[in-house]
Amino acid sequence: MKDKFQSAREMFPHTDGIVFFNTAAYGPLPEKTKRAIVENIDLRLAVQKEDIRQMYALKDTLRQDFASLIGAEARQIGLSMNTSMGLDLAAYGLPLKAGDEIMVSDVEFPAAVYAWRGASETKKLKVTFVKSTDNKFDLSELEKVISEKTKVIIVSFVQFFNGYKPNLAAISELCKKHDIYFVVDGIQGVGAEPINVKELGIDILACGCQKWLLSPYGSGFFYISDSVKDKLIPQSITWYAADWQLNHTDLFKYDLPYFDTAEKFEAGYYATLNMLGMKAAIDIIADLGVENIQKHNHALIDRLVSYLKETEFYKIKSSLVENERSSIFTFTCDNHDSLFKYLLENRVKAANREGSIRIAVHLFNNENDIDKLIEVLTVYDKNYKSKAAAGSN
Ligand SMILES: Cc1ncc(COP(=O)(O)O)c(C=O)c1O
Repeated sequence: MKDKFQSAREMFPHTDGIVFFNTAAYGPLPEKTKRAIVENIDLRLAVQKEDIRQMYALKDTLRQDFASLIGAEARQIGLSMNTSMGLDLAAYGLPLKAGDEIMVSDVEFPAAVYAWRGASETKKLKVTFVKSTDNKFDLSELEKVISEKTKVIIVSFVQFFNGYKPNLAAISELCKKHDIYFVVDGIQGVGAEPINVKELGIDILACGCQKWLLSPYGSGFFYISDSVKDKLIPQSITWYAADWQLNHTDLFKYDLPYFDTAEKFEAGYYATLNMLGMKAAIDIIADLGVENIQKHNHALIDRLVSYLKETEFYKIKSSLVENERSSIFTFTCDNHDSLFKYLLENRVKAANREGSIRIAVHLFNNENDIDKLIEVLTVYDKNYKSKAAAGSN
């Protein structure tokens, strides 16, 4: 398996020059994405129309690929351009009425909050923030605030700033018990952490592909459960909601039936260059397998954790409990802002989030990357301490 990960690493040109631990912000692209996109542009420059058929087939292949990744069926997957489109589909499309209440964590990424804020202004819904404990989604706090008015719970699969994985199975149980729609933002986990939307009883999952799915900006997908599909009242319908089967010679057909699949809710014609990019990346992920990717990522994080635990200077912030941890890991120290800059000066790209250094580890990282990070942290620890000691003299 190590060899497979090494071969995958070689597909990412950035690994020659920089140690990249920032996939939670944006995923690097594999070389073959560039090739696929450039080839298609060449085709378009030559005004060759064959790519319409190619794209028509590709959209269905992608639906199947995403479905396999999350334990769904292809018919339940729609292509989108980001996470927000799927979140908006839930916020505006679910059959909610004035006074209905939406539960969202008080440490949720703004994408979900803004989607429901907008919908609540239009539909007079009420957004309630669930108090977190130690920056974690707190089920007991959720139980305290659920009422008969609660109609939706929205939560991230993986929290963006500390990598915490809420207990989706337990939240799902609550949703079932109280007849609540369960909406999940998948972007910080899908592609690195296994998920099964059917087993978890998720109604809608929204996912951008620009991070862990290593795709161009402007690519994403959504999942819609069978039970919710016919209840959705989409805010917009386009002519692609019907199946033309590429028959564009007779277009005065205004009463074609809509797709009976998630395709009905897509936003018109496709961002085809992005689709090619998505396909190139998802093939790498599918070939390695998400379970293996998770194991690989967690083992690399463990290597870092062993070092951090030996120091007094660095403090681990993320949970390491098996079913709470993810491929995002955070730690902090005194003066972490300057550490963040020092890492960058040494060509280690992490993120500075909510008082911590965020290390996002993905399939192209390897032990050398972690060792390089440890080397820089060791020097920083020494220098910081010696500077602090000189200052106190
Ligand atoms: C949890 C989460 N949701 C959504 C997004 C982004 O939303 P979108 O794909 O709509 O830009 C991010 C990060 O950018 C995120 O961390």
